[in-house]
This record gives sequence, structure tokens and C-alpha cells, in this order.
Amino acid sequence: MGISNKTRAQMGESSLIRRMFEEAAALAAEHGPENVFDLSLGNPILEPPPEFKTELMRIVEDETPGTHRYMPNGGLPDTRAAVAESLAKETGLPFTGADVIMTCGAGGALNVTFKALLDPGDEVIVIAPYFVEYPYFIDNQGGKAVIARSEGDFQPDIDSIRDAMSERTRAVLINSPNNPTGVIYSEETLEAVVGVIREAEDRFGTEIFLISDEPYRKLIFTDEPYPFVFEHHLRTVVVTSHSKDLGLAGERIGYIAVNPGYGERGDFIDAVTFANRTLGFMNAPALMQRLVARLQNVSVDVDVYRRKKEFIYDALIGMGYECVEPQGAFYLFPRSPLEDDREFVALLQSKLVLTVPGVGFGWPGFFRLSFSVEDRVLEGALPGFEAALREARG
Ligand SMILES: Cc1ncc(COP(=O)(O)O)c(C=O)c1O
Repeated sequence: MGISNKTRAQMGESSLIRRMFEEAAALAAEHGPENVFDLSLGNPILEPPPEFKTELMRIVEDETPGTHRYMPNGGLPDTRAAVAESLAKETGLPFTGADVIMTCGAGGALNVTFKALLDPGDEVIVIAPYFVEYPYFIDNQGGKAVIARSEGDFQPDIDSIRDAMSERTRAVLINSPNNPTGVIYSEETLEAVVGVIREAEDRFGTEIFLISDEPYRKLIFTDEPYPFVFEHHLRTVVVTSHSKDLGLAGERIGYIAVNPGYGERGDFIDAVTFANRTLGFMNAPALMQRLVARLQNVSVDVDVYRRKKEFIYDALIGMGYECVEPQGAFYLFPRSPLEDDREFVALLQSKLVLTVPGVGFGWPGFFRLSFSVEDRVLEGALPGFEAALREARG
């Protein structure tokens, strides 16, 4: 009683992670928190860079009237211009502040983008394994997530995207570096994805957006430049945040950047600005906008994540786990040694190591661990990984 049937059903489906929270707390109470190795959460462990505090103190001292008032729904002009300048440097494309809309994180940016694009029943193609919230965000705005698959190396399966296309397809959503796999989509992959978008646009006489969710874009471990989507397709939108690269996940600050080469972007920008307001965000937090305007050229120390990745990846491979090596983000997505990933995650849990079954990401037979934890947690988890693998193999 009280809450809607739809929300109740969705809460039931997504209870996996909630249950893990509860079980982690119960295990910590029983065995002592130092003996429980929780690798289930994707919470950025690195503190914001030192420039964050310097700028914060400066802004707090600023007594200019109006500093904390409502503002244009797309964000502060200076912040939008600063983000555009940084994007122009990264991509070589002529971004201006008008192409950037400040949002409450990438999560807010995705909801706003879907509201701008979707009529009831419109479809968004999501590539499994995927970030658990995507289908909910799409459903929030009346759309329907249509799931395509990845190949064995976790690059998208292009045929599967082609098969998922219909006259209702409004967008293809990609995420690179990927949560949960850590894989970066190559230039060839992006070209192939755009190829099937063009085919479908021709076949159905529609316009399809490519939405690229990039909150891990600056957490990459390779020396190759990050493959941007903008040059591949006109109707391209990047949604991202500073949750991970500046360690500001709790502060809810991100942005949408629209391809400056897309001539008709004005309508889309007006629509996301409207959606920012009417979804109740109004605008992204003012204080954080002022801050990130001055922090576009700094980030957390990615080498710390790289070292953690190398430690846990090498250790698990050495034990005999199978896993695609992540090129970015802070997750590993190994194959489950038992066919049933929930069963294996339960086995790991019996060794006080907490991970998330792949089924939660639409990809059973695998499990996700986050290496965004203290080194002692990674080190402490190794005996549990070893014992669980031994038991799984009988
Ligand atoms: C792939 C992906 N997209 C979006 C988000 C949401 O991030 P934000 O904190 O920017 O809303 C996350 C958070 O973990 C994520 O992993």
C-alpha cells in the first residue's frame, strides 16, 4: 500500500545491491569491519586534488551578492565557457559555452537527455553489460531500454546493435571506459556503431542520437588518446561528471556537451535546459559550478588507480581467474568460476569478500569488483579469492 506498483516492482528487481549493503553491514558487525573486504561499491576513493580546497576557500570568502541564488537553468555562463574551453583543447573542436549544460552529475545529465529525446514508448539501445541504473533512467522518461550485447572482449557486438534497431530507436547509449568492464571503445568500434546508426536512420527515415556516458574518461591507464565520439556522428551528446576525475561524487556536478558540428543542436540544447528545470534539478549546484570552472585542468592521481588495478588484476590472473584487463575506470569484471554468478558471489561472501554478480549488469556468468578501495582491503581479499576459486573448482 502507499507506493506505486511500478516502483514497488522496480525496487524488487534492484534489491540485489540493497541486499548486499545490508549483508555487508551484518558481516562487519559479526566479524569486525577490518575482516570484511567490501569490493562491491563504485565509490571513488581518492580525495579531490589540493586545488579543490584552495578554490573552495576563495569562493566561500566571496561575498558578491547573488552568489547563491537561482541562475540560468543551463548553468553559469563562466562555468559553461570554462568547460567548453577545456573540451575544445581535448578534442580540437570549436566548443563554446552554449554547447555545454551543467547538470547534477552524469546521472542527472542522462535523465535530462532522455527527457529531451523520448516520447512514450521510444527506445534507447543499451549495451550489456551496463550500468545498473540505465534502464531505470530511460523508464523514468517514458522510454524503453532495448538491450544489445558485447563481444568476448567487451567491445559492443555490432550485429546485436543492428538487430536491436527499430523505427522507435531514438538513441544508442554507450559507456567508455565502461562500468563494469573497464574497457575503452576503440575508434573502429565507434565507427562501426555509427555505421549501424546510419543504416537504421536510412532504413527507418529517423534521426538517432549517440549518447556517450563518460564519467571515467579521465581515469584511463593506456597511453593512447581517448577516442572521442564527436567526429563520428553529428547527433552526438556526451554526458559526464566530475564524480570520479575530481573525486566529487557526493557533490553532484556534471555536464552535457553537444557536438558543435551538429547544426540543429539549438533545439536539443533548449530541450535539455528545459528538462533540467522541469525535472526539479533547476540547475547544477552553484558552488560546485564555480569550483569546477577553475578545476578543468586538474584531476585525481590516476596512477593510484592504475597501481590498484595492476595489483588486483595480476593477483587474480595469477590465481587462475579469467578477466579482460581494464583500460580505465576502477572495476574488474572476471568470469565467474561457477556457472551461476550469484552462487559464486555467495561463496566469496562466505570468505568475507563482497562483490556484485554479473546478472545485476545484464551479464550473468561474471562478477564485478571495484578496486576503488584501500590497499589493505585489496590485499586482505586475496586469500578469500583464492579459497573461493579452489572450492568452486572442487
Ligand atoms: C557508467 C556510469 N554512468 C553514470 C554514473 C553516475 O555518475 P554521477 O555520479 O556522475 O551521477 C555512474 C556512477 O557510478 C556510472 O558508473
